[in-house]
Amino acid sequence: MSSLSVEHLIGIKHLQREDIDLIFSTADNFKDVINRPIKKVPSLRDFTIANLFFENSTRTKLSFELAEKRLSADVINFASSSSSVKKGETLIDTVNNILAMKVDVVVMRHPNPGAPYFLSQHVDAKIVNAGDGTHEHPTQALLDTYSIREKLGEVSGKKVVIIGDILHSRVALSNIFALQKLGAEVMVCGPATLIPKFIGTLGVKVEHNLRKALEWCDVANVLRIQLERQDMAYFPSLREYTMMYGITKKLLDSLSKEIVIMHPGPINRGVEIASDVADSDCSIILQQVENGVAIRMAVLYLLAGKIERMS
Ligand code: CP
Repeated sequence: MSSLSVEHLIGIKHLQREDIDLIFSTADNFKDVINRPIKKVPSLRDFTIANLFFENSTRTKLSFELAEKRLSADVINFASSSSSVKKGETLIDTVNNILAMKVDVVVMRHPNPGAPYFLSQHVDAKIVNAGDGTHEHPTQALLDTYSIREKLGEVSGKKVVIIGDILHSRVALSNIFALQKLGAEVMVCGPATLIPKFIGTLGVKVEHNLRKALEWCDVANVLRIQLERQDMAYFPSLREYTMMYGITKKLLDSLSKEIVIMHPGPINRGVEIASDVADSDCSIILQQVENGVAIRMAVLYLLAGKIERMS
């Protein structure tokens, strides 16, 4: 396979296994590039990419921007908090005005699930979903599974538990799809109130006991509690959540084996993960961030390759 089967990256759900393999092999090449003294390639010279962020971001926004600059694209950035959205402009009007400036690719984060799909149906540019509400965060899942492959040699056959606020997490859903397409076994672990009722239909294991989940897995992907998306109390207090589901060094040391610890960020140190775990040798949290640039370079490069240009 030399080109993606999709025109936009809306979700992992729509990708084939071969798409993920192609993104990974392309990212391998870009990882070599960004570790060279001269980190830039001319691949996307004369392409213009708009980063539209209608929701806060640190890692994803900076990582996309760096990936675009490493590929020599022209980049424009938009943050809704400082834009005319505040004066009532709609999503379509906002994007069409930006596209009038001859933009080829739109990278968008939006609080509403489905917003990137809606955009892909109405505008003439390649759309990359940088996180849509509680739905999907495809590049996060790609960089997570790429990091597992890098650490453990392969994803197929590995046991991965996703721990925490599964109900409000776009990272969890995208990771479940990506891990399953790559042949991993997936478990979710957390309080029953933070596990969605439809989870059984996705073919994942469910475990409410953290110790049992950690004893089962090779990799634990720890999620933060998304208080900003919670409209009611899902557990008695953060202190109680930490007692039941916080990952501590003492707990990891008491297991019969070593496991790999991941976190998509932002971390709430001392809540879902203790500082000495986040900063330990078993944590690959910063490798995930590093791999994010190569993965996003690969996604942008492959999607831009599908744009037909007049000579
Ligand atoms: N992992 C992630 O999406 O982080 P940001 O919200 O900082 O982009």
